[in-house]
Amino acid sequence: MAIRRKAGKGTVKGKAKGKAKAVRKSVKKIVRLKPKNAGMPRPSAKPWGQAGRALDGVRVLDFTHVQSGPTCTQLLAYMGADVIKVERPGAGDITRGQLRDVKGADSLYFTMLNGSKRSITIDSKHPKGKEILDRLVKACDVLVENFAPGALDRMGLTFERIHKLNPRLVVASVKGFGPGPYEDCKVYENVAQCAGGSASTTGFRDGPPLVTGAQIGDSGTGLHLALGIVAALYQRIRTGRGQKVLCAMQDGVLNLARVKLRDQQRLAHGPLTEYSQYGEGVPFGKAAPRAGNDSGGGQPGWILKCQGWESDPDAYVYFITQGPVWPAICDLIGKPQWKTDADYATAPARLPRLRQIFDAIEQWTVTKTKFEVMDICNKLDIPVGPILSMKELAEEPSLRATGTVVEVDHPVRGAYLTVGNPIKLSDSPADVRRAPLLGEHTDEVLRDVLGYAEREIDEIKRSGAISAADKPAKAEAA
Ligand code: COA
Repeated sequence: MAIRRKAGKGTVKGKAKGKAKAVRKSVKKIVRLKPKNAGMPRPSAKPWGQAGRALDGVRVLDFTHVQSGPTCTQLLAYMGADVIKVERPGAGDITRGQLRDVKGADSLYFTMLNGSKRSITIDSKHPKGKEILDRLVKACDVLVENFAPGALDRMGLTFERIHKLNPRLVVASVKGFGPGPYEDCKVYENVAQCAGGSASTTGFRDGPPLVTGAQIGDSGTGLHLALGIVAALYQRIRTGRGQKVLCAMQDGVLNLARVKLRDQQRLAHGPLTEYSQYGEGVPFGKAAPRAGNDSGGGQPGWILKCQGWESDPDAYVYFITQGPVWPAICDLIGKPQWKTDADYATAPARLPRLRQIFDAIEQWTVTKTKFEVMDICNKLDIPVGPILSMKELAEEPSLRATGTVVEVDHPVRGAYLTVGNPIKLSDSPADVRRAPLLGEHTDEVLRDVLGYAEREIDEIKRSGAISAADKPAKAEAA
């Protein structure tokens, strides 16, 4: 019997075998690469919009109040999350009673920020209340809060403790400021607008700083937080653990005012030529100035009067002198000579003359209604925007059709309008329902979510953990 010598290291055959093995190994490696959609379900065959909602299965312990936090959790609820709002027994979110328009009914301030949520009352400082909260922490995917700095810790809910109770929980907070000299301060909307750079750059040059009506500090930061939460939930799929998500209102406002930080840096290299103050010969100071109604981008714009401005405070249009349509603008306003006049024909030549140019355009817009201006200009590709009042927006049929403005019914106040989900998902229709009454879902949550038996629920009720100790706290009078 021939003895077959094993091909080993050093032999020619052995070397070849080693090489072949290496090649096989690398081939194997390539073959082993997971397909991109490994582990993902097959694409649903259900019609669009009938495969559930984006955040179905996500449960949120909503410890938010006033505006910033509730904006965030309302969006999550619109996208399908089960949002359980925890409120103080007897009083609830302070906004329930603020700016009341209908006696005895939750205010629009509250109802327009807490749609599609459930409400449970829990005294978070009562021993039994703490026990219920612990169970909620274990049963939820996300905790959202916007208490004053330290308040959650004082309830005994430090991140360390929460993480121990439920390592998968995402803990999201809005605070006024991030770590730094102001981190302990309480903050409301306008404080954030001022501290985040918006107020110093809003208003007219010769007037004081102005706050804007858009709630960029509160609602803006709530939006930022919602993004942080879904990102953390996505990361959790890989890591299996939750994390802290923090959005400071100052940061959120600064993020929205970033073009002004852009201008601040440009100042070091010369005047901001698109600001009308440049054309007016007013020197720039050390900080980005208030720009009135100047456009924030490279295309000069201004708000101009339209027909009826004498009696209608909103009979105005925003008009942008976009470079490519300059010839069309010249023809429209009866200044065809400006198309070739060296003082007006190019964008740089126009910059020192913006005031004069907008005065001339206004002589045309003032002869038309803002909607006529819109119709005429849009056909010519000239970007304009009518100044729409809240009344006009509330009545606008196209906003109703898209679900951006939604009418919902309420058992106490009757029908009211709310803003639906401005983020449209093609496979996740928005779930816009009325805001809950205070504690409306307390029993339901205790029973169905936390698994308490009826007997235990009775005990909880007797303990005072879910009802006001004395008579309900009187929220602000209607
Ligand atoms: N049961 C018992 N106590 C409760 C409770 C409950 N269910 N819910 C809240 N509380 C308590 C808190 O524990 C806190 O008590 P503590 O101060 O003894 O710790 C207390 O209510 C008040 O909370 P706080 O957040 O300080 O409310 P406030 O009305 O004094 O301040 C803000 C309101 C908005 C200024 C403040 O919450 C804040 O700065 N939040 C962060 C920034 C923010 O979101 N601002 C924008 C709001 S739109």
